[in-house]
Amino acid sequence: MPGFELFSDLERKEVHDVLDNGVLMRYGFDGMRNGHWKAKELENELENQLQVKHAQLVSSGTAAVSVALASAGIGSGDEVIMPTFTFVASFEAIMMLGAIPVLVDIDDTLTLDPEKVKEAITSKTKAIMPVHMCGSMADLDALKIICNAHNLILIEDSSQATGATYKNKPLGSIGDLGCLSLDFVKIITAGEGGAVLTNNDKFYKHADHYSDHGHDHVGNDRGAETHPFLGYNFRISELHAAVGLAQLRRLNEFVQIQKKNYTILREALSQIPEVTFRRVPEGGVESYSFLNFFLPDLEIARKVSSAFKDNGVDACWNYYDNSWHYIREWHHLKNIKSLYPISEEVKKGLEYLQTKTFDQSDHYISRNISSLIKMSWTEKEVRERASKMVDVINSLLL
Ligand SMILES: Cc1ncc(COP(=O)(O)O)c(C=O)c1O
Repeated sequence: MPGFELFSDLERKEVHDVLDNGVLMRYGFDGMRNGHWKAKELENELENQLQVKHAQLVSSGTAAVSVALASAGIGSGDEVIMPTFTFVASFEAIMMLGAIPVLVDIDDTLTLDPEKVKEAITSKTKAIMPVHMCGSMADLDALKIICNAHNLILIEDSSQATGATYKNKPLGSIGDLGCLSLDFVKIITAGEGGAVLTNNDKFYKHADHYSDHGHDHVGNDRGAETHPFLGYNFRISELHAAVGLAQLRRLNEFVQIQKKNYTILREALSQIPEVTFRRVPEGGVESYSFLNFFLPDLEIARKVSSAFKDNGVDACWNYYDNSWHYIREWHHLKNIKSLYPISEEVKKGLEYLQTKTFDQSDHYISRNISSLIKMSWTEKEVRERASKMVDVINSLLL
């Protein structure tokens, strides 16, 4: 990760196909296209590779989460359970629909703790949204049992773990709905883009219409199409889809490159008894986009993080002090800093964030370091990096 490291003639060819006929929009203009339907092709390829009945492309991963929630009928005043360790897109997408994000602790998988999920369920809960962070996954069997018992929708966000599997099924294909991002830094990129995945015909139809102003997409006269319900514009362009198509065809190759680099680093760090690794749920196979490991405490993790930077070991993050991925620094959410009025119901629903502590999440995130796995490294570079990482950690553990 990220896929842009390995752009080649394959991506260029797909983009040229689009530019040669000039149709940058995914719908209509049938006569001008010379048979090129890149978004449609990418959707078919996603369905094949991710073993899901329907894929609906959208303009971003954030849009994918919003469209997935809307497609399942989640909106005003509904509660959606999400993890404390994720990307801001999770609560943005929930709040865009007037729903309430209920943040729940993670465990040693770095994803939702099923026991804490059970405690957070109320009569308003409509969905559980695990986020498969940093290349690995939530315990989906445990979450499915909870969803079945409480009649809740399971929405997977596999944006950071495309290519990983759970019990031989690709992530994103297991819940009622799956979401993925194709933004610039993901394992396969379209520049910008996302996808909603589902085996549910009704949810798919909703996603298809909702992401294009509510158009029903019947016939081939866009002006004559009806709008069964309100929608917005979350369309992907043909240019973005073209890049995504070439990248998706290389997903397995990318995962194998990452696995090789990940394995070298992991074997090296395994020699240090104080280093432990995140738990991958039984039956899970990672996408190897990150190597996540725990150090004994926050103080050592901070020192290691800073010493890595000083020694040229880049792309390693301790998210405790970082505002990207962890609740601790999301002051704009805690204080509801919005440009426009937020409903009293949502404000009230978010009051818990003023006082709630997430000690269990702190315990894991404070000690964790996530090391991005690049695909462009040579084997020599990975081995040098591994030995530098081992030396730095050992020197600070003394
Ligand atoms: C877990 C997760 N979900 C959603 C998103 C949002 O994706 P996008 O940047 O395509 O909107 C991201 C982006 O980093 C992410 O990491």
